[in-house]
Amino acid sequence: MRLRDVELRDLPAYLAMRCDPVMMAELGGPLPAEGMAAKVARDVAAAAADRDWIKVIEVDGQPAGTVVLWTHPEASAESHPNQPAVAPLSEIGWMVLPDFQGRGLAKAAVRELLEQACADGRWGRVHAYPGVGNGASNGICRSLGFTLRAECEVDFAGRTLRCNDWAYDTVGVRHQ
Ligand SMILES: CC(C)(COP(=O)(O)OP(=O)(O)OC[C@H]1O[C@@H](n2cnc3c(N)ncnc32)[C@H](O)[C@@H]1OP(=O)(O)O)[C@@H](O)C(=O)NCCC(=O)NCCS
Repeated sequence: MRLRDVELRDLPAYLAMRCDPVMMAELGGPLPAEGMAAKVARDVAAAAADRDWIKVIEVDGQPAGTVVLWTHPEASAESHPNQPAVAPLSEIGWMVLPDFQGRGLAKAAVRELLEQACADGRWGRVHAYPGVGNGASNGICRSLGFTLRAECEVDFAGRTLRCNDWAYDTVGVRHQ
């Protein structure tokens, strides 16, 4: 397994991941194929600019999934009710295609990207928001040392999902 930056040739893998009802079952259902080429192009540009880390998990030269680390402009969960924070919030997400699931790939890829984030130093506290019923992804968070903070509602592509908020501190100080 190796991680590499996303490329335009990864459109078929994006379609297989994001437009498939089984792959998207925990994420509110499949996304429309229209617009996916533009999404890949945006991701390639963001990765090339080193703004977001958008990595393809590659096995024997084949795209097997993605692991992505990016920041949101949204108010952070640490905001005070009377004084919302506007600091960027770092988030990590991952997907592995069905043919490659159950081999420890997602866990290895998340571990590797977090190690890179710790070495890089810019990402601070990294959040992951697996759906509350996503056994594998919640297991990955638990076993890699994320701290479970709370259940929360997350907006994803226009849907509201019930998720767990897990946090992993990449700067060595664990906050509760
Ligand atoms: C969730 C997903 C990424 C898991 O990928 P994977 O490569 O098969 O996961 P791994 O093989 O690394 O397994 C991770 C852990 O989950 C466990 N696991 C796998 N399926 C599980 C399940 N249904 N319930 C509980 N634990 C499960 C594995 O045993 C492993 O734990 P271990 O290391 O303690 O043995 C993949 O199924 C997927 O992409 N699903 C669809 C999209 C999605 O849900 N993305 C995540 C959004 S946060």
